[in-house]
Amino acid sequence: MSTSAAQAHRTDADRMSDPNWWRQAAVYQIYPRSFHDANGDGLGDIKGITAKVPYLKELGIDAVWLSPFYPSALADGGYDVDDYRNVDPKLGTLEDFDEMAAALHEAGIKIVVDIVPNHSSDRHEWFKEALASPRGSAARERYIFRDGRGENGELPPSDWDSVFGGPIWDRITEPDGTPGQWYLHIFAKEQPDFNWENPEIREDFLKTLRFWSDRGVDGFRIDVAHGMAKDLSEPLPMKADLEAKAHGTDGFTDGSHPFWDRDEVHEVYAEWRKLFNEYNPPRTAVAEAWVHESRRARYASPEGLGQAFNFDLLQSDFDAASFKKIITDNLVAAKESGASSTWVFSNHDVVRHATRYGLPKGGSKAQGTNAAQDVTGGTKGQDGKGWLLAGAPAEELDVELGLRRARAATLLLLALPGSAYLYQGEELGLREVSEIPDAERQDPSFFRNPGVEIGRDGCRVPLPWTAEGPSFGFGAGAAHLPQPDWFADYAVARQDGVEGSTLELYREALRLRSELQTDEELEWVETGNQDVLHFSRPGGWHTVTNFGSNPVELPEGNVVAASGPLEDGKLPSDTTAWVVRSA
Ligand code: NOJ
Repeated sequence: MSTSAAQAHRTDADRMSDPNWWRQAAVYQIYPRSFHDANGDGLGDIKGITAKVPYLKELGIDAVWLSPFYPSALADGGYDVDDYRNVDPKLGTLEDFDEMAAALHEAGIKIVVDIVPNHSSDRHEWFKEALASPRGSAARERYIFRDGRGENGELPPSDWDSVFGGPIWDRITEPDGTPGQWYLHIFAKEQPDFNWENPEIREDFLKTLRFWSDRGVDGFRIDVAHGMAKDLSEPLPMKADLEAKAHGTDGFTDGSHPFWDRDEVHEVYAEWRKLFNEYNPPRTAVAEAWVHESRRARYASPEGLGQAFNFDLLQSDFDAASFKKIITDNLVAAKESGASSTWVFSNHDVVRHATRYGLPKGGSKAQGTNAAQDVTGGTKGQDGKGWLLAGAPAEELDVELGLRRARAATLLLLALPGSAYLYQGEELGLREVSEIPDAERQDPSFFRNPGVEIGRDGCRVPLPWTAEGPSFGFGAGAAHLPQPDWFADYAVARQDGVEGSTLELYREALRLRSELQTDEELEWVETGNQDVLHFSRPGGWHTVTNFGSNPVELPEGNVVAASGPLEDGKLPSDTTAWVVRSA
């Protein structure tokens, strides 16, 4: 091994054992079914990820986060889990997982897996047992079963909506064939909610966390982390009661909603934290909690999960004032909680940012799943939309503008202190695929909201690796979601080594980020122009983004990266540059 290779190796090893590795990590989200298909069955798989470890290494990320790869009927893209301690046979085996984990670790890449504790799938053996067991049985106590209202229990226990549309309660047929009790599912009816008051559920999740931690998993992304704890004492409030109690668009800010963001959920996380800290380095966790900003800190506390997503940038227009406020507020909040901040523009639930930024302002907001404002559980967000651009007209999309802004936004994001969460395909500049025929859509939110929601399939279309081939190098056959012809232009092979390509921009920015990053300080520099943001990090690292329409002067120094070409040395509109000034 050459000296520099030995040095690089040591650096990886040091980073791998650092208990603070997560604080400023670049985490790349893999949606396994759509990443790479090694066996040609149309579905991405674990061996497909292993095969692409060199690509991930070259990209320069610190960790991967894998969306669920557990056995699942895919009623909700894998967030309906049949068995928490196994790999979906369609995706591989536990041995494949171990092989993948070893390859990632060997490449110096940490592994974060998704844990889905709020609900299981209706094919989980415990739910099957609950259906086969009588009312009041221990098996029913693992979920949330209730008798219905009305003379014969024919009405649901409350009139709440599920997140994917339709009622939150579904009625079962009792083992003797009579119409029976109702069970609660905040999401699809195939996703019954667990009863977290039952110690057996708590024990079982500790077992699951241990199972994956023992297999070398470094951290966890906690799905619907603000669900789980519930107060369903009778009489249950109705939708109108909840709406009356909500604080306007802020929703519930005091933990008194019957199933969102209740304080008791933190008891669970305190227990999980003890388990995480038994490992060296301690296992990490990040909460997916769509809660009011004033409630986020507890999820991110070192006594709890340790970090929480903030989806503020993801819900913002491409706008200087809005970005500045979000960044400032979140850095303050992160400091208060003891965590580092998280930044994200795209994930498997929202319209890709290259599309959002190419739409007229206001149309470009993405609303998250189950935002705190959704007091009744339903899909309605602040602006009455679901988390997708319900019906955003494709003809209003300016593709070039969207990509230009997405690149500028990403270069800004990668310069921020804290963890950067990137979503597979954004490094290729992919935009949302809007041309999926209805017959080929998979997302439950599409089926449960006919004509209203188009669902999340458009950001889950399998990646193009090559410009040719049956599925652009995704696999040997057709992909499980149809890829559009324009994917050829965005293929990895078309961008690899091409100066100025989005892929090379990400690679270069990630490489520089790991060199430039020191502590978590950020200082705003006054620009005198409300459309231009400028901040600096210790070590003379300056980031300037021009949100306006006229080119602007850059500060003195060495321009080490730019999201697009400069114009006569000036920073054009919708462009970000990194400038390094020697001390
Ligand atoms: C949030 C996940 O990100 C989303 O994909 C899923 O549908 C819901 N939680 C339910 O698990």
